[in-house]
Amino acid sequence: MGQTKPDVQCRARIMQMTEAEPDEAALQEAGRILQEGGLVAFPTETVYGLGGNALDPEASRKIYAAKGRPSDNPLIVHIASLDALEQITEEIPAAAMQLAAKYWPGPLTMIFRKSAAVPAETTGGLDSVAVRFPSNRIASMLIRYAGGYVSAPSANTSGRPSPTTAAHVIEDLGDAVDCIIDGGPVDIGLESTIVDFTVEPPVILRPGYINQEMMTEAIGTVEMDPGIQSETEVVRPKAPGMKYRHYAPKAELTIVSGTPENAAAKIAELAHDETAAGRKVGIICSDESAGMYPEGIVWSLGARSEETQIAAHLYGILRECDSAGVDVIYSEAFRTPQLGDAIMNRLVKAAGHRIIDADEKG
Ligand code: TXA
Ligand code: MG
Repeated sequence: MGQTKPDVQCRARIMQMTEAEPDEAALQEAGRILQEGGLVAFPTETVYGLGGNALDPEASRKIYAAKGRPSDNPLIVHIASLDALEQITEEIPAAAMQLAAKYWPGPLTMIFRKSAAVPAETTGGLDSVAVRFPSNRIASMLIRYAGGYVSAPSANTSGRPSPTTAAHVIEDLGDAVDCIIDGGPVDIGLESTIVDFTVEPPVILRPGYINQEMMTEAIGTVEMDPGIQSETEVVRPKAPGMKYRHYAPKAELTIVSGTPENAAAKIAELAHDETAAGRKVGIICSDESAGMYPEGIVWSLGARSEETQIAAHLYGILRECDSAGVDVIYSEAFRTPQLGDAIMNRLVKAAGHRIIDADEKG
């Protein structure tokens, strides 16, 4: 069994493997831990999840306690077969089945009326349940060995950026879980798209890798919750978890939007003023503009043309900003074609909706 001692002190047992070569015996053991009511953190294609048996109310309570998460914020139930979906839901609209056929397994979560099999503790008291069928092989094997239903929020302490490596999980939850499966860095780096199918037409509650256009193409009209549409205004979102300040670095983050030239000039000016005032400045930018900032600690998310890289690096860099102990952070905006909605949704929340428009003359 692939097991190593982590560098930092941590109570959890660490199991190392790769998605190409999952360790069957270790995953069976981890599945047993889940069946017995324990907590196991594991990789998915989006972010690392903090898993517990979704049908066990006590396991759900443990998840909330480990994360320090309010218990009215429902969990996503992860499955590894379509048959499992029928056991935990009441009505599945035809359009949802079409989306499932196209994008499951994958980074898409759908919300349905829940069946009596799902305890209220798992759904934060709601009569609906969020369901996801992840494509990561380690995740799907673990779910099967656990009995088929694993509730898993992102494996971060509540309020911190979601973990994209096992090291992030160890940092946040190393002493709070029984086992952490280290399957290397995740692929996507942003949480799944969430679509509510308890309403007609369906509504996107959280943008993700599967975007509005892709879903509209597959099933017709899919709306966007007003709570996630506006970048500058705070509108109460429908997914309970979306109302909390999320993905937040410790320093005050401000997004500077506008043309690349104007944004870079404005950030350089702000970084100069803050540095002169004795504050430590962090700058989040792209490869194209990284050379334009003489002051501040500069982190590039990657080339603007490689939007999957930008998404994959965002949370790790927000964590690095924390470790570097910067006082203020300025970030460029990233309105890229496929992932722009998802990237900006996370960035805007991390910034607490603080956005400066560098194109505005004033
Ligand atoms: O990619 C992902 O979805 C990751 C990985 C681990 O699968 N999981 C994840 O879970 O991001 P979490 O708990 O961090 O985010 C779940 C979001 C929360 O905003 C929650 O409020 C919302 O989904 N949610 C869950 N059940 C819901 C329901 N029945 N109705 C409305 N929103 C729901
Ligand atoms: Mg989360």
